[in-house]
Amino acid sequence: MKQNIFRTAGARSRKEYSLKSQTKAAYVEMRQFALGDTLLQMSKPARQNLTTGVVPEMGSRATAPLLFFLGLLFIFVKTLQKKATLPGPSFCLGIGPLISYGRFLWMGIGSASNYYNEKYGQIVRVWIHGEETLIISRSSAVNHVMRKAHYISRFGNKQALKCIGMNENGIIFNNNPSIWKMTRPYFAKALTGPGLQRTLAVSVESTRNHLDKLLGSNSTTTTSTTACVDILLFLRAITLDISNRLFLRVPMHEGQIVSKIQKYFDTWQTLLLKPDIFFKFKWIYKKYEKAAQDLQDAVEELLLKKQQELQEAEKLQDITDFATDLIFAQTHGKLTAENVRQSVLEILIAGPDTMSVSIFFMLMLIAQHPEVEKKIVEEIQEVTGEREVQNSDLQLLKTVENFIYESMRYQPVVDFTMRKALKDDVIDGYPVKKGTNIILNLGRMHKDEFFLKPNEFNLENFAQNVPHRYFQPFGCGPRSCVGKYIAMVMMKGILVTMLKRYRVHSHNGTTLENLKNNHDLSYHPNESNSLPRMTFTPRNQAEA
Ligand code: HEM
Repeated sequence: MKQNIFRTAGARSRKEYSLKSQTKAAYVEMRQFALGDTLLQMSKPARQNLTTGVVPEMGSRATAPLLFFLGLLFIFVKTLQKKATLPGPSFCLGIGPLISYGRFLWMGIGSASNYYNEKYGQIVRVWIHGEETLIISRSSAVNHVMRKAHYISRFGNKQALKCIGMNENGIIFNNNPSIWKMTRPYFAKALTGPGLQRTLAVSVESTRNHLDKLLGSNSTTTTSTTACVDILLFLRAITLDISNRLFLRVPMHEGQIVSKIQKYFDTWQTLLLKPDIFFKFKWIYKKYEKAAQDLQDAVEELLLKKQQELQEAEKLQDITDFATDLIFAQTHGKLTAENVRQSVLEILIAGPDTMSVSIFFMLMLIAQHPEVEKKIVEEIQEVTGEREVQNSDLQLLKTVENFIYESMRYQPVVDFTMRKALKDDVIDGYPVKKGTNIILNLGRMHKDEFFLKPNEFNLENFAQNVPHRYFQPFGCGPRSCVGKYIAMVMMKGILVTMLKRYRVHSHNGTTLENLKNNHDLSYHPNESNSLPRMTFTPRNQAEA
């Protein structure tokens, strides 16, 4: 029955979209036809005059203005046709591009993208930095872009990317397809296979250790203290530790690196779309330059430690890791030292930048929805009993999985992705030129199509299988999130380990609705004035 409802909803939305586009096409055609007709009607008397020669003097006098008028009409028709191809603000002597670029700088990428999709529909043409940019939230078009090989590049100011070390290095914003193709397999190897197998145990252990350190409990499932926690700092420390244990494995000062990662992320977000002129004033952006350099230096130091460890080791460690593979690739001349440093930096920041905020939103949703918490905790208890969660449990934790999906749909952190067209193409009937920037507005797509209760946080939205094309929190295709499987396992490991021991509450009446957020490169709490906090109460006390 529900399946039918879903099918019907999906079919209905598809039907509506195709109907809408058909109606639009028909409207454009009718308009062209009507104008063509008018042109014909207007040209008729002139033609008659010219051919019959009944009133030749009048005809020759009327010809010039008539041709002029026809010319004007022709230009008018062409302009209308152009406007009809891609909805969006008009060019208007260059004022349109200025306003849309200003809006992106002022509101942030995420907010500006939502603004334009809201105003003009699911496919919109705007300008960023004077370059044509499409903002897309229609699933058919989003999937087209994600799956095609000629959209494997991203966009962003080159000087900004140079400043943060991402220009033609690393993977996340590497816009040189051949270097990106060489680098991605190292990430793919580390984030799947044996690495993925070890992830759950590492996540559980790291979460347990951090809870113990912070809340003074012991490493069994019984805990004794209620505490108020700077939740984002706490989650960042856990996700960084997990990444270090999986990919680098050298001792580090977590607190210091977490703070450097935060400043690096702010720099990335602030500089990414800035105009070239901004970089001419060194004194303005030198604090950003320093923030980027600080993290790069810290990673360089960690890599030196790793190299020393490798040199001193009698035999290669039993399990090689991401950093070891990269160091060997550098020794064999396959990767540059700069690329190795940037790749290690990126694998270390990927978790703290995305998962810590995602898990924070999930804990807030749990605190706000006791009935959902009850369901989740019952399932965890049923599947794991008194022991820690194991790999074989993962497929049984269906409610936990649906909860994670619904949280990422309802309150996403990464809610868009940026691409560039490397070839001319046609997307959903719209011609797209090589070099066009593309923003895939995934967050909006998840609230626009398919789901039964799109604007509500409701586990029913995932009660039945959701076809991939309607739900893409990690993207798909050749440039999708290479960490998507590991991210799901990490989130399950952290959540289950925490929820087994603690009940979480929001602090001082904070809710997701009244929390101040930034919506630029990602959607995250604004931490400039105060840090979000949550209270952790041991489950045995909360239920007593
Ligand atoms: C909640 C967690 C996460 C979310 C929602 C997320 C989401 C995304 C999205 C939407 C993209 C862009 C995909 C596209 O353009 O189609 C991406 C890229 C990427 N993600 Fe994730 N991600 C998460 C966690 C992780 C983790 C834990 C890692 C690694 C440890 C990771 C590594 C990457 C990398 C390296 C890229 C760039 C891939 C490329 O450009 O080839 N992500 N992620």
